[in-house]
Formats: sequence, C-alpha cells, structure tokens
Amino acid sequence: MAGRRLGILISGRGSNFIAIADSIAAGRLDAEIAIVISNKPEAAGLKTARERGIQAIAIPHKGMERAAHDQAVIDALRAAEVDLVVLAGYMRLFTPIFLKAFPKVLNIHPSLLPSFPGLHSQQQAIEHGVKISGCTVHFMADETDSGPIIRQAAVPVLGEDTAETLEARILKEEHRIYSEAIALILSGRYRIEGRRVIET
Ligand code: GRF
Repeated sequence: MAGRRLGILISGRGSNFIAIADSIAAGRLDAEIAIVISNKPEAAGLKTARERGIQAIAIPHKGMERAAHDQAVIDALRAAEVDLVVLAGYMRLFTPIFLKAFPKVLNIHPSLLPSFPGLHSQQQAIEHGVKISGCTVHFMADETDSGPIIRQAAVPVLGEDTAETLEARILKEEHRIYSEAIALILSGRYRIEGRRVIET
C-alpha cells in the first residue's frame, strides 16, 4: 500500500505545488504534503507553503557538491517521513544516489515527451512548428525527462503564440494532470511494463 505523505521539491514559483495543495484541500487528492524543499532560498513557493502552514525549507545547492546536496535533500525527505517524492519545477539534476534512496519519483515536464526535453520546451515547440504541445507527468529515471509516462495532456499551439502564452495554456493542464497522476500512483492501481504505465 502506497503511503500518502508527499515531499515536493521546487525551485521557483511553485504553481504546481499550489495546485496539488488545492486538490488536497478540495478532497480530490487523498494525501498530505509533509514537506516542501527548494534548492533556492528565494523561491516564491516556499513562502506560499509557509503561509499555508506547510513545512517548507531551503537547502541551497550553492557551494555544495552535487552528491552532498542530494544527500541533504534525501535526509530532509526521510526526516519528514515522505512516501512519494514529487518534483514540481525542481531545476536540478540528481546524482544516482537520489533514485537509489527514492526509486519512485514523479516529475512534470511542459511538453509531450519525448518531444522537447530539457529547458525552454515551450520555445522549442514554437520554433519547431508543432501544432500540438502539452505536458507530461512521468517517473524519474537516470536520464533527464525520460522514464515511464503516467499522464499527458495536449493543447493547441496557435499562430500568435509566444513562449509565454503557450506556457500559460500548458500550465493549466499541468495543474490538472499532476494531481490525477499522483492519485493514480498512490492508489497503486497500475503496473509498469517496459516503458508503459498501465492502469489496472
Ligand atoms: C512547470 O512548467 C513544470 O512543468 C516545469 O517547471 C515549471 C514549474 O512551474 N518542470 P511552477 O514552479 O510549478 O509554477
């Protein structure tokens, strides 16, 4: 049985974290946010978390070796007795020790993977000329933006779109599907076959 204590990692604004917190408050997601951690002390999401009475800490990565920083984050997640780690705009790559400590980590990416991994996905989509883009919730794997796909949602890319307008359209869908994906994983009603996450 999956646990229900979420550890959410952010680096900035935290709108996905807020959407998850809202889903929990509205009773759409049966979980609890045990801790929010940011590698950037100035992340706006930390302030929002504290205002909502959620434990929120910064573990700055500056001046720290990557593995040591990962270990500090792992220790904080363990101290908070987290069952599922949720990356929500966490702009750091992990060393292998992270996935060893937490094999099940979820991430959200603002494109229909495997298209446009990495940074500036919305700009990449516009420049490539695709007519449809969207977002993907997937399990973390050692390679960036890979890992079995849990949920995707599509949006149109319009002629007049800028990276900002496309980002806003995609973000709305991110906020919807992340909670759905978390609920599925917590329910345990899925199996993984190769790269496929199959609901059972
Ligand atoms: C989102 O677009 C997410 O897909 C990407 O980073 C952004 C984070 O936004 N990984 P926010 O901090 O959740 O508002």
